[in-house]
Amino acid sequence: MLKVGIIGIGTVGTSVANILRDNKNIITARAGVEIVPTIGVVSNLNKKRDVEIEITDDVSKVLEDESIDIVIELMGGIEKPYEIVKRALENGKSVVTANKALLAYHRYELQELAGDTPFEFEAAVAGGIPIINALRDGLSANNIKSIQGIMNGTCNFMLTKMINEGVNYDEILKQAQELGYAEADPTFDVGGFDTAHKLLILGSIAYGIDIKPEDILIEGIQNIDKTDIEFAKEFEYNIKLLGIAKKVGNQIELRVHPVLIPQDKMIAKVDGVMNGISVVGDKVGETMYYGAGAGGDATASAVIANIIDIARRGKGSPMLGFEKQIGEKPTLMPKDE
Ligand code: HSE
Repeated sequence: MLKVGIIGIGTVGTSVANILRDNKNIITARAGVEIVPTIGVVSNLNKKRDVEIEITDDVSKVLEDESIDIVIELMGGIEKPYEIVKRALENGKSVVTANKALLAYHRYELQELAGDTPFEFEAAVAGGIPIINALRDGLSANNIKSIQGIMNGTCNFMLTKMINEGVNYDEILKQAQELGYAEADPTFDVGGFDTAHKLLILGSIAYGIDIKPEDILIEGIQNIDKTDIEFAKEFEYNIKLLGIAKKVGNQIELRVHPVLIPQDKMIAKVDGVMNGISVVGDKVGETMYYGAGAGGDATASAVIANIIDIARRGKGSPMLGFEKQIGEKPTLMPKDE
């Protein structure tokens, strides 16, 4: 049996606990061992939670409990989860996180601290789409020429409704928050920062470079106005917020901004909360990944895939090979070029 402690019982944490219960048979068969969520940590004990596990506001009940094998970090923010993940790894616990902001700033350091202890984060990028798995495993024979895609469900949901149904910005942002898609501070979504965090994670896996959000161009969707929407519709374009990583010579270009895309292109058809990412490898050519980019069950699906993987392989992190580059390391193209 593997015991799991979940830090953060919000939309995703609740889904993780409930899917581990509801799909227990299939998960046990695939993991080769029973996976039991035992305890959830919350900051507000008065809020009702729809889970059947013990709830506490004392994080040390997870971090210092020797019987807990895997810590799932789903709390959001950066500094507090950073300390918690560090402590969990120092205490020899495997860690799974969906926290892209944490990873955008501290992944290399935490990966190094983890060493042979599994430290996984499939759910941090594009919710339920196994894009990290694809980059790390499926495409590992390739030099990655580009990664481009819709990586924020909230913005895509908003842009789709604004173009197709003429719903106004504030109303649709409120809906995205109510559906549990948006970040606690939705500026991260609409300002493009969440997309940037995800792009940096994918870029760091593909190119082995450690770049911070401040180093890249980030433009969100807050300035898209009625004229942009009318123009897009009239000329049969859709507006999408894209994260773009391209290798040009030995430089990596990384940027996030809204793009006008002709409606007949595949990426323009990715609507609603869905994410869609194109990855071009030098040998495989273009590959496309599509699926729910936010939401409790979709994101929990990726978290649990990591837990099952950890159960199967035990110690040893295959991420490490990706931090090493043989030959000259690519550099970041300055953001104003
Ligand atoms: N706020 C994020 C989004 C959640 O809308 O995509 C999933 O990372």
